[in-house]
Amino acid sequence: MIYHIPALLKESIDGLNLKPDGIYVDVTFGGGGHSMEILKRIKNGKLIAFDQDDDATVNVPVDNRFLFLNQNFRFLKNNLRFNGVDSVDGLIADLGVSFHQFDEPERGFTFRMDAPLDMRMNKSGTLTAVHLLNTMDEGALADLFYNFGELTNSRRIAKEIIAFRLLKPLSTVNDIIGAVGKLAPHRQEHKFYAKLFQGLRIAVNHEIDFLKEMLEQALDVLKPGGRLVVITYHSLEDRIVKNFMKTGNFEGEGKQDFFGNIETPFKVITRKGITPGEEEISLNRRSRSARLRVAEKI
Ligand SMILES: C[S@@+](CC[C@H](N)C(=O)[O-])C[C@H]1O[C@@H](n2cnc3c(N)ncnc32)[C@H](O)[C@@H]1O
Repeated sequence: MIYHIPALLKESIDGLNLKPDGIYVDVTFGGGGHSMEILKRIKNGKLIAFDQDDDATVNVPVDNRFLFLNQNFRFLKNNLRFNGVDSVDGLIADLGVSFHQFDEPERGFTFRMDAPLDMRMNKSGTLTAVHLLNTMDEGALADLFYNFGELTNSRRIAKEIIAFRLLKPLSTVNDIIGAVGKLAPHRQEHKFYAKLFQGLRIAVNHEIDFLKEMLEQALDVLKPGGRLVVITYHSLEDRIVKNFMKTGNFEGEGKQDFFGNIETPFKVITRKGITPGEEEISLNRRSRSARLRVAEKI
């Protein structure tokens, strides 16, 4: 089974503007598609890769220019420093889950197969979707599905979950589908469940908070002229990345200097972002929601 097919491979690695002897970081190693392309294109450079899922270690190449760290990218700076690296020439993040994580039923990321509602990217983490679904109060559940799943009927979803768990705890994919299935719009069931599962996954893995932590540290470790390359798969993440690249903060509000000029730590290279073309989507349907953004540290 394929571990992963990298999205926007050429466009993202071109975006790094690689120097043959540069130091690069891939904070989402996964199947190693982006990493392998970097290794192909650098000579005496160095590549440090992170992935919090230890399943990814099966893809680690034997290459003395490469170092794999089975770590959360929220610990980017500490891990780099621990390995003697203070600054880097470029960093790539390809967010979200790999095909492997998605396709393994027991990981609980997909609504297409019944399995325990796990959804941890780091299998030694303690928080699972089962825990969230059975312990959060109605208001918090509604906020979760509204904020992270971008579902407008989040209050009704939360109400149905609470009603279901009064009878029995939710523990499987079929439980949640049984609890909220009647709220799925006709002919848009897949979209509804995809958003529902996206919301849960983001909450279980603290994806928004950790993305922000990583971006701030990336800005610190990038050398002037260094490139930040990020691929997102939903608008919530894309907005954060876009704002950060534009203004250096997550609200997208540019601070003005003494002369009234907007202060920004980056030069944005891809103003609108880059999305896959029809050919890539026809070969890899899962790439269809990808959006690549590139910025250069000033
Ligand atoms: C879309 S896949 C990356 C695929 C990779 N670019 C490739 O070409 O195969 C995302 C990967 O990032 C990892 N990941 C997500 N959030 C992470 C985090 N906070 N820290 C470390 N790894 C993370 C996931 O475990 C997953 O393997």
